[in-house]
Amino acid sequence: MTVATAAAGTNIALVKYWGKRDETLNLPATGSLSLTLDRLGTRTRVAFDGGARGHDRVTLDGAPADAKVAQRVSAFLDRVRARAGISTRASVVTDNSVPTASGLASSASGFAALALAATRAAGLELSPTQLSELARLGSGSAARSIFGGFVEMERGARADGADAVAHALDAAGAPIWEVRLVVAITAAGAKAIGSTAAMQQTARTSPFYPAWVAGVDGDLTAARAAVAGRDLAALGAVAERSALRMHASALAAEPGILYWNPATVAAIARVRALREGPAPIAAFFTIDAGPHVKVLCAAADADRVAAALAGVPGVLRTLIAAPGPGARLVETTETAA
Ligand code: DP6
Repeated sequence: MTVATAAAGTNIALVKYWGKRDETLNLPATGSLSLTLDRLGTRTRVAFDGGARGHDRVTLDGAPADAKVAQRVSAFLDRVRARAGISTRASVVTDNSVPTASGLASSASGFAALALAATRAAGLELSPTQLSELARLGSGSAARSIFGGFVEMERGARADGADAVAHALDAAGAPIWEVRLVVAITAAGAKAIGSTAAMQQTARTSPFYPAWVAGVDGDLTAARAAVAGRDLAALGAVAERSALRMHASALAAEPGILYWNPATVAAIARVRALREGPAPIAAFFTIDAGPHVKVLCAAADADRVAAALAGVPGVLRTLIAAPGPGARLVETTETAA
């Protein structure tokens, strides 16, 4: 029996993914563009060892996973089992480098690490592109965490999803663009409505949703060029407008979806003030399906940005993340079954 352990970093989208063209295969309505981080990741160990009492056994951050998480992991493992031609239940032990309940632990690093660990434990060796397609079935954003650094996810056109995969934007071995994402945590506890349900509700009911979809291709073109040209101001401008338009489309859903709290708004104001102050700092915000604010800046400015955000009323703590590698195998061991 093979026991495989994999690690993956989460990623933060600078051009957001918000809505699907196919809910069963998790095919995105648009492409997206992200940065994979060195922190806020997941480490997952998988063994097809029979699980417990005929079920997969899923341990999350040291405790049995709740029914919803366990079910999502099992459904994912079913796809891996089908591909490998096995039916054995598995044991999955997964640990996030941030508490799951903080609202920062993500399905992106979780399903990227699970895709790699589970396929290896099942005796499969998939290419990064194949892993990206598989991870997408667990969570759309997970397709991006297979790759490191700046990553673009393709919308794809095929009905089977084979072309709805991610790829790294920088060539292998290219010098890393030393940007940072400063995360300002503005609330404890899990978010009110998960991204899967929220994007569905937006797509079905928001009059602004078609406008959101129509704008993404232009944002992708601009973001791609900004990454290639290492143009922080251009990338930051795209990131802010993509986040604001995503949230605008969600706000206009029925019922409206509002992820922000007062500290979210205060942090946005602080970032704008940093840019416009007497000693301007190039800092640009983005916000996901939660109240936290993530701020893109140059590595040299990260400490100052973090200090400024830490002083915003309602910001509980800050952390600085750097570009990180794609999903990787940490260890495989062979044991007697
Ligand atoms: C706001 O990837 O969590 O973070 O595919 O339903 O699992 P599912 O959704 P998920 O959505 C991520 C939404 C986002 C933007 C992004 O990461 O692109």
